[in-house]
Amino acid sequence: NRSIKIAPSILSADFANFGAEIQAIEAQGADWVHIDVMDGHFVPNLTFGPPAVKAFRPHVKTVMDVHLMISPVDAYIDAYADAGADILTAHIEAGPHTHRTLQAIRGAGMKAGVALNPGTPAHAVEHLLDLTDLICVMTVNPGFGGQKFIDMTDKIRTLRAMIGDREVHIEIDGGVDTTTAPLVAAAGADVLVAGSAVFRGGSVDMPSVYGDNIKAI
Ligand code: DX5
Ligand code: ZN
Repeated sequence: NRSIKIAPSILSADFANFGAEIQAIEAQGADWVHIDVMDGHFVPNLTFGPPAVKAFRPHVKTVMDVHLMISPVDAYIDAYADAGADILTAHIEAGPHTHRTLQAIRGAGMKAGVALNPGTPAHAVEHLLDLTDLICVMTVNPGFGGQKFIDMTDKIRTLRAMIGDREVHIEIDGGVDTTTAPLVAAAGADVLVAGSAVFRGGSVDMPSVYGDNIKAI
């Protein structure tokens, strides 16, 4: 019985009203707030950087889960620590030295996450497990909200077995909705990100996305 954490992504929120949007998802039971940082280089889209993340901080009462889709990463780690990130996740595909990056993230006082694109195999993180607090399994190609879910349940199962009794979260990011959430939770995921399914048509709707039953898987 693994307890499932829900981490709505504010990528699909109203960009002119982040404070109110964060308040709304937390009022509806969000465990973490997921923040998608994109650089127009590692992914073909741009979102926000450290000053914006710092401005979100006072509104986030739970956990600020920052997903970096940027390359390079290392030069910005201190800026995200200063902005108040609790968890900082870097992509393994963002550079040749993920091992060093994870050490630097922990060294800056944050929890360290590593994200895997859909084409990257589970074993890419095999020698990083002791440096990692979270593995983010992308179930879309990163860059945009609202894309179709890519089934990665095999990868999730492999990772859960590889992690063994270590305390490492498996977070799923991309296309999570009422249909796909139970599949990934059953395969071993314990943190579910969802953007477009939560921020639908300008109103926040968490319970109908996840249902109450998902929490008990
Ligand atoms: C994709 C982002 C995701 C995205 C998820 O690059 O990392 O966090 O916002 O959005 P949905 O839930 O709409 O797929
Ligand atoms: Zn994300």
